[in-house]
Amino acid sequence: MESMKTIVEQIDFRQMNMDIITRAGEILRAGGLVAFPTETVYGLGADALNEQAAKKIYAAKGRPSDNPLIVHIADMEAIGRIAEAVPEKARAAAEAFWPGPLTMIFQKTGEVPMGTTGGLNTVAVRMPDHNAARALIRAGGGYIAAPSANTSGRPSPTTAQHVEEDLNGKIDMILDGGAVEIGVESTILDMTAKPPMILRPGAVTREMLEELIGEVAVDKTVIDAGSHAAPKAPGMKYRHYAPKAELTVVEGSISRTVDEIIRLTGEKIAEGFKVGIIATEETVGRYSMGEVKCIGARGEEETIASRLYGILREFDGIGIDYIYSEAFGREGIGSAVMNRLLKAAGQRIIDAGGK
Ligand code: TXA
Ligand code: MG
Repeated sequence: MESMKTIVEQIDFRQMNMDIITRAGEILRAGGLVAFPTETVYGLGADALNEQAAKKIYAAKGRPSDNPLIVHIADMEAIGRIAEAVPEKARAAAEAFWPGPLTMIFQKTGEVPMGTTGGLNTVAVRMPDHNAARALIRAGGGYIAAPSANTSGRPSPTTAQHVEEDLNGKIDMILDGGAVEIGVESTILDMTAKPPMILRPGAVTREMLEELIGEVAVDKTVIDAGSHAAPKAPGMKYRHYAPKAELTVVEGSISRTVDEIIRLTGEKIAEGFKVGIIATEETVGRYSMGEVKCIGARGEEETIASRLYGILREFDGIGIDYIYSEAFGREGIGSAVMNRLLKAAGQRIIDAGGK
């Protein structure tokens, strides 16, 4: 792909610079690519109803063309043009969680090109909880396809600098709105399934959804790491969220976990490798070898979620060969964190015992 100059603009959602948003919207309307912050991760936007524009996303990311894109909208009224039918439960979920970190899948209308949905007859829709993102969506025509703004196979970007690392010279513009709030991608809920099914866990949890709309199933590839079934979200089959280093998760009682990570780290360092450790506030003082990163306090799953991808990228940046991470709690957004961590680990998990 030929290289272009990528413009980077700072935006502040409290006093939004409409000049910049308008210019970015014009780029999108003309079929260009603009990366922008959302509350979950940075997205790489293109006009979702323009097949050629959507296709540019695949080229810039190096993304397999069968992996469908999420269409982002800014207003509930926009949904009728792209979704064939919006069931009552979906309306209730939209009312409760939009704008927010929830993506819902519907039968698509003829307006949505197959190039946007990876050849599927369904379309994934989300309304992000970020003022600049919604202003940009409106300025860009109302329907913006946006996968995470990383090179395919790398951890999703949680800052504009991460986007630059991966996509500088390949896209028209990056809107820099600072670090994102949540740090892991949205929950994906398939509303064409009965009962509705979670294809990817996120900040909107199964419990939150069930309280509102009754029974919700979870794709078994999300729960059962060893499952050989194909995930229902095409993107979940790829070993993505992946750092360059070989990552292993260690679970068990806190003291056994720490002992096992110290032992494994010692072994790899003795063999001449660079080792990174993902520790917690409670344990960080116990490690004296390797590159040690504290991801937050145990039990503070939201902090852990917001730091995970950034830490994996930092380890990539300093050429770490092996990463050992403690396992974290699965409360709330913790189930999404463990889902991404285990994916990044290629499901490599060691039980240190004691639990
Ligand atoms: O939080 C998010 O959802 C972020 C921000 C930018 O909004 N976006 C995001 O997009 O994570 P992406 O492309 O990285 O992940 C989209 C996932 C993929 O696993 C894809 O396979 C799945 O959604 N998906 C999209 N459309 C689908 C459909 N019609 N049926 C099943 N899965 C679908
Ligand atoms: Mg992604």
